Amino acid sequence: MAFTIAVDGPAASGKGTISRRLAAHFGFAHLDTGLLYRAVGRQMLEGTDPVTAARALTPEDVADADALRSQAVGQAASKVAAMPDVRAALLDFQRAFARRAGGAVLDGRDIGTVICPEAEAKLFVTASTEVRAERRFRELAAKGHETTLAEVLDDVMARDARDSARSDAPLKPAPDAVALDTTQMDIEAAVAAAIDVVQKAG
Ligand code: C5P
Repeated sequence: MAFTIAVDGPAASGKGTISRRLAAHFGFAHLDTGLLYRAVGRQMLEGTDPVTAARALTPEDVADADALRSQAVGQAASKVAAMPDVRAALLDFQRAFARRAGGAVLDGRDIGTVICPEAEAKLFVTASTEVRAERRFRELAAKGHETTLAEVLDDVMARDARDSARSDAPLKPAPDAVALDTTQMDIEAAVAAAIDVVQKAG
């Protein structure tokens, strides 16, 4: 039976970790939809037309998730994500994943609003901009990416602004999403709160 958990929110809100942990807890498959846009963004940086890249995307393109996590690729991702033809090319794959048998967790910006408005459980994960930048900075530093906190803060704010302002599938909570502000929560508390939301929805 299909059961979809939609997890949306701005950059570095904690939605990725929460989604992975929800998937493990419920035994569901997990799709980080940001990786699709990151893979298209990377190909654009390499000179490929983004719409062509989106239409031809294969699982190998998202296999090396670490290489897709750089800030340059993140910025390129948010640029290609504003292109309606890119979004359209990635729609069917995400919808099919969402409705697969056995349950699915998808995280992104438009899962509860556009990809899967009928999702059984919806979360909108937020945290203050400063806390999100600090978390992302620590994550990038741990993976050996060279950057500064100020640079990460600029990066997060620029992506949020672009993701919220675009006309096609902007970042915004679905009317029926449960808001989860993780500013004051550690990851264990955030995961526990998310599990609680899903249990109440099911
Ligand atoms: O989630 P992540 O930060 O990896 O996403 C990278 C970029 O991909 C975002 O800044 C956003 O522009 C885009 N994105 C999107 N819709 C999604 C997931 C990601 O537009 N469902």
